[in-house]
Amino acid sequence: MSATVATVTGLDIGSSQITAVIAEWDDDAFKIVGVGRAPSTGLRRGVIVHLDRTVNAVRKALDEAELMAGVPHDAIHVNISGDHVRSLNSRGVVAVSRGGGPISDTDVDRVLRAARAVSVPPDRDVIHVLPSEFVVDEQGGIRDPIGMIGSRLEVEVHIVTAATLAVSNIHHCIEEIGYRPASITLSTLAAADSVLSDRDREMGVAVIDVGSGLTDVAVYLDDALRHTATIAVGGRNITNDLAIGLRTPIDAAEEIKLTAGAARSEMVADRGPVDVPGVGDQEARLVSPRVVASIIEPRLEEIFMMAKREIDKAPIADMLAAGAVLTGGGAGIPGATDLAERILDLPVRTGRPLNVAGMMDRVMGPADAVALGLIARADDVAPTSRRRDGEGFFHRLSSRIGEVLSEFL
Ligand SMILES: Nc1ncnc2c1ncn2[C@@H]1O[C@H](COP(=O)(O)OP(=O)(O)OP(=O)(O)O)[C@@H](O)[C@H]1O
Ligand SMILES: [Mg+2]
Repeated sequence: MSATVATVTGLDIGSSQITAVIAEWDDDAFKIVGVGRAPSTGLRRGVIVHLDRTVNAVRKALDEAELMAGVPHDAIHVNISGDHVRSLNSRGVVAVSRGGGPISDTDVDRVLRAARAVSVPPDRDVIHVLPSEFVVDEQGGIRDPIGMIGSRLEVEVHIVTAATLAVSNIHHCIEEIGYRPASITLSTLAAADSVLSDRDREMGVAVIDVGSGLTDVAVYLDDALRHTATIAVGGRNITNDLAIGLRTPIDAAEEIKLTAGAARSEMVADRGPVDVPGVGDQEARLVSPRVVASIIEPRLEEIFMMAKREIDKAPIADMLAAGAVLTGGGAGIPGATDLAERILDLPVRTGRPLNVAGMMDRVMGPADAVALGLIARADDVAPTSRRRDGEGFFHRLSSRIGEVLSEFL
């Protein structure tokens, strides 16, 4: 873990855009002081495939954020995603060292190490070990076992692993600009930390981040992460569908999606026709916005159906009382929440960033949730003062444990 620093930077390396957000700790919240963005052309479905292009885009986004902030960026917290990411649940059991005595920090470290001792192939790195429940002797559902009396300590954890190559490329990319990443976090965990309240996590909630090349899903219940998944379909597929369906170049299709797109054709009944440029020397045409929506709808429906399949893998899918929260650029499609409600059969809302202040007009969009969440998770700014009272226990514990485990990961 890095030493206490003056600013923290959330760096979202996305398939369509790199976003850098610089924040300062200000009394009781992170205050955004700089935002920089650069188009991303060096990733395929969340994974860096072209290092130079990615380094240049990262540098551009960081420079822009720094210029706006008027202070240098410091600790860089970065995301990871891609369909190479896997997650599994594991358990660890240890005898409490002072049998029958109070459980200590060391016992918790030992049991977490035991749970982490699953066989991970040599080409994969463990990126998160997140406890969901402790069991002391026969009593389960314990959140903080430290100080409790018992002789047997058990823990259930959610382990997230990623391809070593993908992790190394993120390291390379940040090292190329002269830094080391302060942390690497799964994109959905960061998005969740930006838009979920403790109550959401407690009640049960799914976060669905509809990006460009990927849709990431995370499911929480009882303040613990239960399931994570990455689906290799996103907004880029919608653009491709529009390009093919309307016979227009990709750039034009993207523009049409952003300016005239909707998830349901009833929503655009009263709008005028859309200008659709032709491919090559073909002439531009006017197309009804209903046609545009009728191309977007089935693809978005497919994305939410795949997300539902993942949510249903968590054996608690029918207990998600706080519903689902959409983040990522794809959440900006008008009508996306209605469509998601219909498919998921859950209350759905668009994620709004919590826990940060300043420049919110520049970072309010659902696509900024990952960069803002990386900041919300950062624990290297004034660590003694920045913790909020209401912050979830497992969140705090996992960041503490992260420190302990960092030497092993
Ligand atoms: N208002 C909007 N309406 C429709 N689509 C949008 C809107 N805003 C952004 N998008 C789409 O969202 C996608 C970009 O989202 P985001 O920035 O979350 O992706 P990313 O993080 O770059 O990619 P990934 O997470 O897949 O690596 C693009 O496909 C873009 O066209
Ligand atoms: Mg993204």
